[in-house]
Amino acid sequence: MMKLGPGERLVLRGLLTVGKYPVLVASAAYLLNRYAGWIIPAWAVCLGALAIIPLVVFMAVRIRYWQVFSAAARRGAIIAPQWRGRWLGNLDILYLVLEGFRNGYPGDFSSDMFSELGPTIRFNVLWDFGILTCDPAVIKTILATEFQNYEKGEVFQGQMKTLLGTGVFNSNGDMWKWHRSMTRPFFSKDRISHFELFDRHAEVALNKMSERFRAGYAIDFQDLVSRFTLDSATEFLFGACVHSLRSMLPFPHNTSTSSPFAAVTMSPVSEQDAAEAFATAFTAAEHVCAERAMVGAIWPLLEMRKDKSLAHMRVVDRYLRPILEEALRKKARREHVEKARGMKTDEEADDIEESETLLDHLVKLTSDLTVLHDEVLNILLAGRDTTATTLTFAVYLLAMHPDVLQRLRTEVLEKVGPKQRPTYADIKEMRYLRAVINETLRLYPAVPFNIRVSVNEGLLPNPDGKPFYVPAKVGVSYSVWAMHRREEYWGPDAQEYDPDRFLDERVNKYLTPNPFIFLPFNAGPRICLGQQFAYNEMSFFLIKLLQRFSAIDLAPEAISPSMLPPKEWASAPGRKGKEKFTPKSHLTLYVTGGMWVRMTEAEELNTGL
Ligand code: HEM
Ligand SMILES: *[C@@H]1O[C@H](CO)[C@@H](O)[C@H](O)[C@H]1NC(C)=O
Repeated sequence: MMKLGPGERLVLRGLLTVGKYPVLVASAAYLLNRYAGWIIPAWAVCLGALAIIPLVVFMAVRIRYWQVFSAAARRGAIIAPQWRGRWLGNLDILYLVLEGFRNGYPGDFSSDMFSELGPTIRFNVLWDFGILTCDPAVIKTILATEFQNYEKGEVFQGQMKTLLGTGVFNSNGDMWKWHRSMTRPFFSKDRISHFELFDRHAEVALNKMSERFRAGYAIDFQDLVSRFTLDSATEFLFGACVHSLRSMLPFPHNTSTSSPFAAVTMSPVSEQDAAEAFATAFTAAEHVCAERAMVGAIWPLLEMRKDKSLAHMRVVDRYLRPILEEALRKKARREHVEKARGMKTDEEADDIEESETLLDHLVKLTSDLTVLHDEVLNILLAGRDTTATTLTFAVYLLAMHPDVLQRLRTEVLEKVGPKQRPTYADIKEMRYLRAVINETLRLYPAVPFNIRVSVNEGLLPNPDGKPFYVPAKVGVSYSVWAMHRREEYWGPDAQEYDPDRFLDERVNKYLTPNPFIFLPFNAGPRICLGQQFAYNEMSFFLIKLLQRFSAIDLAPEAISPSMLPPKEWASAPGRKGKEKFTPKSHLTLYVTGGMWVRMTEAEELNTGL
């Protein structure tokens, strides 16, 4: 059978849905002619066949609106205020959102609407209902209080399916519970072995940086730190580091020596070594899925004939499969030996050894290759870019605020010293470091926008009166980005970078009474599994960075001017007017063109203090 592409399937399904009405009209005309002897002219039949589609849509929409409004009234609720578009079906709203994602400042597309209509609004693109919110009380309802009623929707799952299958990040209900219970024990302990691993990779990364700075070049910190998190993640997840730090770093845009890494990204797979091909293909598959997430339910139209992620996933699988098979063989051998010795074979799943990888842990629980494959890739996706992005913006903000950098560096030198490897206990005690990380996550949350879909109808809190009614199967999008920057929740200096807000009286004033205003890691039963891991990894890297370097300068001249923030941003209030680079969001936040910086090596190292 011919295999249809994702777009072709969507169009076909659409035609089958609306196509039956013109067929119905034509059949009716035929029957009237045949049995009642009516003669209906062909033009009238055609007109009827055409007119019936908008008529049916119009009727269906009317009925739906009527049902929704009367269901709301019955429950003593109202419908959230509407963001009204100007075009047919409010398509201008869809356009505005997409345009905002491509070229705008994150969150701009909705900020006027939030100030005009309140923190929870409704929009009806193509007559469908959608909710958008930045209200912590509403977010608390969908993530925690009424967790059961709000799932990752089918649309999101469809977008991610080829990349994530049914792993923890992409499943609902019992399937999700099963995945979560399988992976959670692995994250429940802080394992010292991670520190050894971070240390090795951080050391490689810092040496590469020093080398470039000594040669007089700026570096793209976003690129560098993404390699650090990829190498660390692949090693701790499946015990096979992809060594992306071994490839050469990119050079500034106007340097004649162009980046061999960029060339590798473009060249055919056969010329690369398997690990590098894996890293490149995984990133490419992620980009395909991020594109899909931007266009929403109609994403298959971007991929009419074939699924764009499949070719990349074949490369990913070619690398991963032998690793998974080897882990299963090792397990079989171990069981065989234990049986021969008469030892018990049913190892305790909670019993995790110090040096165990996630994969070692998973093979104790299942021998299903697909489950293993999906699970490790889910966690790679969840953990890699998020951590890299946060470190990137942490460095960005430290460069813009040398006073904060100096104070943090003092804490590093006092608590850890100029050269010593940081320990878990050191990191726990460094309150200012944690405040710096939190303040970065507040202003630049790695996952700025997210969505849940209602299972059944429900009610959402409304600060100004009757609750808002949500029909079944309606998307509730939430903007952590907007919530994290609102004066209403954070006070008059909400747009300012000030780590002290996590340490001084402002904590008691804003955060303690209303903890849902700060949600970089989500909340409720689906809260990030890797939160502790992420704090450790990021703290570790920042400490080593400040042990080696004492000053950071932004180098916007290193990227092509077309990637810099548009001139008109400069006059905008708040953070937008201050940006030196261009933040963008796909699944996670990132910087267009990279985060180019120069750093000064610390005196302590040179004098051997
Ligand atoms: C700064 C770093 C990180 C941030 C800001 C972050 C943020 C988040 C957020 C917002 C979610 C919720 C996504 C959703 O349900 O829609 C999430 C889920 C998750 N995160 Fe993280 N994350 C970070 C690092 C990590 C790391 C390092 C790992 C693993 C090593 C990890 C593993 C996971 C997993 C497995 C989930 C899915 C949990 C579930 O659905 O039950 N994350 N993270
Ligand atoms: C940082 O935020 C986390 C929540 O994600 C919180 O547990 C911690 O206390 C905060 N630390 C500081 C110093 O602000």
